[in-house]
Amino acid sequence: MDIKAPRGVRDILPEESWKWSYVLKVTAETMADFNYAEMHLPLFEHTELFSRGVGEATDIVEKEMYTFLDRGSRSITLRPEATAGMVRAALEHGLCSPGTAARLWCWGPMFRYERPQKGRYRQFYQIDAECLGLPGPMADVEIVALSVEIFRRLGLKNLEVVLNSVGCPACRPLYRRALLEHFSRHKERLCATCLGRMERNPLRILDCKQTDCGLIADEAPSVHDHLCDECRDHFQEVQEGLERLGFAYHLDKRLVRGLDYYTKTAYEILSGDLGAQNAVCGGGRYDNLAESIGGPSLPGVGFAAGLDRIVLVMEQQGCSFGRSPQTQVYVVAQDPEARAATQVLAHELRRNRVSAEQDSGNRSFKAQMKAAGASGAAWVCILGPEELQKDLVTLKNLETGEQASLPKAELIERLRQN
Ligand code: HAM
Repeated sequence: MDIKAPRGVRDILPEESWKWSYVLKVTAETMADFNYAEMHLPLFEHTELFSRGVGEATDIVEKEMYTFLDRGSRSITLRPEATAGMVRAALEHGLCSPGTAARLWCWGPMFRYERPQKGRYRQFYQIDAECLGLPGPMADVEIVALSVEIFRRLGLKNLEVVLNSVGCPACRPLYRRALLEHFSRHKERLCATCLGRMERNPLRILDCKQTDCGLIADEAPSVHDHLCDECRDHFQEVQEGLERLGFAYHLDKRLVRGLDYYTKTAYEILSGDLGAQNAVCGGGRYDNLAESIGGPSLPGVGFAAGLDRIVLVMEQQGCSFGRSPQTQVYVVAQDPEARAATQVLAHELRRNRVSAEQDSGNRSFKAQMKAAGASGAAWVCILGPEELQKDLVTLKNLETGEQASLPKAELIERLRQN
């Protein structure tokens, strides 16, 4: 076949998809314990939502969005992230009236035109949680705690929580100026991308992975020395809150995140087992996002975790995904006369929540038994002339080879015990 999936997107095949279901089940339970309600949002939105919400000067908006004109000539964008959509939906449906909080979560595919590599795809999946309406540091601590708890329940090891504050519109201009002064002095050693960032978004230079830029960024003025009193107190209280809950974290003054809406808290959770794309989770506070998309003031804090990456790390670390879905019983016809009865029996088993498979072709008894062995089923049910006549089934344990006849009426009870 000459048509393949586009570059950077992948099919999640049955051998992997059951692991996704497990991660989502654990996630949904954890969200419920933290009182977060699930939402489902559209995969595409008006382009403006992201250009204004995520920020014109971000890599996402500048070069990674899948944007097109629809047949009504409106500019539409496949969502590159969920936060802007969550806030839009909360405002549109009045989910968070002044003075109250809304705790919401969603999961699904996001789209970014990035250079594909291990753990980085053009269609990838995020688990996203947002806590709206609460300006205080306790909400930030709750969000970090929620993300860490999901990973703890999934059994992930070797994770590191990295924390920073990126200030607010009151203190950031001063910090921006201090950074510009510093980077101007080292202009000749900055990479071409960072030279471009000087005017548009000098904070992003702190995040550059090029060695020279990194060295210059290490010596740059620290955001911690430029926070206003409010941001400094908030940052302090977030740290105290995390310590109260017993979370280990480390501060990184160079953590700025790739989205422009952040104010105050920014954090990431990194895995030591992921190589270059090592962030399994990123988030922070965004107190001005609602206003930037034309809404009233609505503080918020949240995170998104990469589902593809979570499964990748869990596989690498040998974490459990619960029980893999497996056929319990394979129903086999000993001769052609019993074939119709196998379908009736398989259906009866399935109606009673016993997972059953039956050979739908016209294969010989031997071939059916071989297929049963290869199917991974624990049991084979054999129907032949004698069984049909006496209303019996022959049940064979494929692991031990033990075999016995029993009345059909007892079969379901027997299988349920195993
Ligand atoms: P983000 O850091 O852009 O933040 O993405 C969050 C997570 O999504 C990353 O840590 C990573 O695990 C996963 N991810 C991102 N891009 C890719 C990709 N191309 N392939 C595979 N996985 C990827 C956000 O999206 C913010 N909306 C997070 C947030 C929620 N902030 C506040 N609330």
